[in-house]
Amino acid sequence: MLEKIDHLLTEISSFSAKTNEELELFRIKFLSKKGIISDLFEEFRNISASSKREVGRKLNELKQKAQDKFNTLQQELQSFDVLSVTGDLTRPSYPWSKGTRHPISIVRNEIIKIFERIGFTVSEGPEIEDDDHVFTKLNFAPEHPARDMQDTFYISRLSSEDSDPRDIVLRTHTSSVQVRVMENQQPPIRTISPGRVFRNEAISARAHCIFHQVEGLYIDENVSFADLKQTLLFFAREMFGKETEIRLRPSYFPFTEPSGEMDISCSICGGRGCNVCKYTGWLEVLGCGMVHPAVLEASNIDSTKYTGFAFGMGIERPAMLKYQVNDLRLYFENDIRFLEQFRTAF
Ligand code: DAH
Repeated sequence: MLEKIDHLLTEISSFSAKTNEELELFRIKFLSKKGIISDLFEEFRNISASSKREVGRKLNELKQKAQDKFNTLQQELQSFDVLSVTGDLTRPSYPWSKGTRHPISIVRNEIIKIFERIGFTVSEGPEIEDDDHVFTKLNFAPEHPARDMQDTFYISRLSSEDSDPRDIVLRTHTSSVQVRVMENQQPPIRTISPGRVFRNEAISARAHCIFHQVEGLYIDENVSFADLKQTLLFFAREMFGKETEIRLRPSYFPFTEPSGEMDISCSICGGRGCNVCKYTGWLEVLGCGMVHPAVLEASNIDSTKYTGFAFGMGIERPAMLKYQVNDLRLYFENDIRFLEQFRTAF
């Protein structure tokens, strides 16, 4: 019984009440006729004479403590005064700044929304990648210049004698996520992969060692170049306006065959010619092509059954067009005076 009383004493001393309801529950539990303390006094009648003295003393102490606690809390609750906490209730509130989204995030979200409307999912992959996913499985030859340390940040270059001879790099493009998706999923695949990429470039108004890309990948039976063109036209008109025209120029990427680069009619001058499009009327926005059969096979996708298209675009370029901010460095400095100018609903 002594132990039980000690236990209750600690419970009482640590108890606090923020409302009258909480205090009332306390009263019922400890001090009411059917409360714990009453019960203990009942039990007290039956204990041996030898321990009566000590237990009795403790029991009275318990009753006193509970009553004192109740009185103090009751007083505190009564004297709680709203005004003393909040001050002048008519005072205007302090403005609450919600913050703004980074312009690159705004454009990235816009691109994601457009592709989500035609059934693309979003997938992501690691920024620190191995050579396999960034180059080898994308059909880059061993001596391809993109593997050069002048272009690629190597985290570790391991020798072939190593037990796990993988080079670890900062990914130079989001095409690496294509490989990760194909390794984990059989067609139909319809996904876009936004993310940060890294290249060993000197920083200037027009180049940066960090930038952002969105990769697109569509693999199924009977996917054709016409599907690619139609998807890109849909995207261009949603992103840059209903009047936008596209044109495709032949190009080369190791992971697509045939490959192309897509231009859009200049969204600044409408194609008439201005200094943004260097008086050509066209702006280059992305690389694309039909996924090379070797790339499908490298990730265990049957290239006799499936075909697919892929594309990759930078996010900074459309952001520069949208906001007319033509110094890339501003997007990475996180100067609050710059960032606060971009307000959107999402
Ligand atoms: N990965 C390329 C780059 O960084 C862009 C690209 C081009 C991606 C063609 C693609 C593609 O998926 O098909 O320049």
